[in-house]
Amino acid sequence: MSDIDSIKNSIIEQINSADNAKTLDDVRVAALGKKGQITELLKTLGSMPLEERIAFGKQINVVKAELEAKIAEKKQALEIQLLNEKLKKEVVDVTLPCRPEIQGRLHPVSKVYEEIVAIFAQMGFEVAEGPDIEDQFHNFNALNMPPNHPARQMQDTFYINNDVNNAFDMDSAYVVRTHTSGVQIRTMEKKQPPIRIIAPGRTYRSDYDATHTPMFHQVEGLVIDKKTTMADLKGCLYDFMKAFFEVDELPIRFRPSYFPFTEPSAEVDIGCLKTKTDLIIGAGTDWLEVLGCGMVHPNVLRAGGIDPDEYQGFAFGAGIDRLAMLKYGIPDLRTFFESDVRWIKNYGFTPLDFSAMTSGLSNNGGLAR
Ligand code: PHE
Repeated sequence: MSDIDSIKNSIIEQINSADNAKTLDDVRVAALGKKGQITELLKTLGSMPLEERIAFGKQINVVKAELEAKIAEKKQALEIQLLNEKLKKEVVDVTLPCRPEIQGRLHPVSKVYEEIVAIFAQMGFEVAEGPDIEDQFHNFNALNMPPNHPARQMQDTFYINNDVNNAFDMDSAYVVRTHTSGVQIRTMEKKQPPIRIIAPGRTYRSDYDATHTPMFHQVEGLVIDKKTTMADLKGCLYDFMKAFFEVDELPIRFRPSYFPFTEPSAEVDIGCLKTKTDLIIGAGTDWLEVLGCGMVHPNVLRAGGIDPDEYQGFAFGAGIDRLAMLKYGIPDLRTFFESDVRWIKNYGFTPLDFSAMTSGLSNNGGLAR
């Protein structure tokens, strides 16, 4: 074995047996540092005859590269080993119950949002999203509401002046979306049928009383396929309502209504009993409106780039906050957004209770109350 090979082998041995970063670095300096063994060998080149110098120079450089690679490899191995040891030491048992003094609570809107997603996910729906700041094409025009359509006045829209240097231009202004229905169009623009999505999110209207706040939440639903019918719409919503309110029987009524983007359109009421102090879902002779729905208007399909002669579908839009008020007996919507810690302690949910169809949706045991 040549001299250089034996030097190389001894350095490799030292690299292999280095058990921490410091020792490894010492090995590196001793081999490749300014006064290292390999560096010293390189210095001897100058005194050699040309032919020998070329051959030997090549040989040293190959060894040098090999050693550098070995050191880098070992360095990485040591880092991984260190990290693994650290992870082992810092292990957290996530199955332990949380400390009782933990104050955080899940807001009823977040809770109901998760429940809704859990139910529709099981029915095969995907969750879609759209922007809160929306253009008028998606919020109105494409939904069969051209400029000056009277239905635009149905919703008290907040317009955004996006050009501070010029006079406010009503036609090109953005809006904060008045409903989640714009996501219907955005979804159609992105994908071809079959479509089966829900789109939960924030919506905004200039309105304020016990059942209206300027910002509120809706969940949109959209199903498009070749043979989707009103019967599918009814079945889907009926199943959703029963799962959501966690009752086996629920009186439900479809009342003819009007929306520019659906034809025919309906509003859905559920049966309940209203007394002076209570609201009982699924009993009695009163009705409560919970959502709007209908068969997607052909003009809407066309605006979304879908051929209405080939496809049809249904859509619905429900108020998430309304559903939360009904399910958890919260009388005033305005209190949802007042950020009062006493309120969230009373109406909130422990954050570790997940909503799932398999383990119970609302997990009433998890109610903070
Ligand atoms: N966007 C309607 C609203 O905000 C609800 C709706 C959605 C109705 C989809 C029909 C179909 O009132």
